[in-house]
Amino acid sequence: MSDADRNASSLRGYYRWHAKFYDATRWAFLFGRRGLIATVADQVKTPTRILEIGCGTGKNLVALAEAFPGAKITGLDLSSDMLDCARAKIAPFADRIDLLHRPYNGPVAGEDGKFDLIVISYALSMINPGFDEVIRLCRGDLREGGVIAVVDFHETRWTWFRKWMGVNHVRMEGQILAQLDAGYEAVVRQIGRGYGDLWRYVTFVGR
Ligand SMILES: C[S@@+](CC[C@H](N)C(=O)[O-])C[C@H]1O[C@@H](n2cnc3c(N)ncnc32)[C@H](O)[C@@H]1O
Repeated sequence: MSDADRNASSLRGYYRWHAKFYDATRWAFLFGRRGLIATVADQVKTPTRILEIGCGTGKNLVALAEAFPGAKITGLDLSSDMLDCARAKIAPFADRIDLLHRPYNGPVAGEDGKFDLIVISYALSMINPGFDEVIRLCRGDLREGGVIAVVDFHETRWTWFRKWMGVNHVRMEGQILAQLDAGYEAVVRQIGRGYGDLWRYVTFVGR
């Protein structure tokens, strides 16, 4: 088994349990998700195809469906437990949202179905190893001029907090922004703070 497969398997196990109380708890620390979609709506006027990688319980899928009434949306996730939660939530938009149960380790789009917008919200910090490969693969799934929009944990100056987040599969070492900067031209690039300055999170929209 490769390190990437081991990571995927361990995340599946983690979310088997965490899916049960994910929506009840994550609002308190996954900051910037609503803001990301509002920001994207300013930048991408009428996307027809949208992909969310690591869509989890579907909060962003619903927000995207509301923000972009003309768009077809695909939510992809490796956890069937998280997708089960998403399925219930997206029911009112079932004609426009598809769910894909798989890890993002290869292209999703065929040549004629590339995406105008790819959203990744608090998934990249958990893909270790492989977050850099995910960012690279997105280029092939985006149509020319397409937009990548990311919100995620960035870094913390507190060693104990970095270690605690590591226990929860989250890497917070500024690695995501460095990789996005290397592959995309930023249109929006913001750093926010959680609970004073316990941690920083990044919002990045780029082409
Ligand atoms: C912290 S949750 C974020 C869920 C959602 N995007 C949100 O903002 O609430 C991370 C999600 O990414 C998924 N995930 C992690 N690695 C993945 C991979 N390589 N491919 C697809 N999904 C992945 C996990 O199963 C989990 O549902």
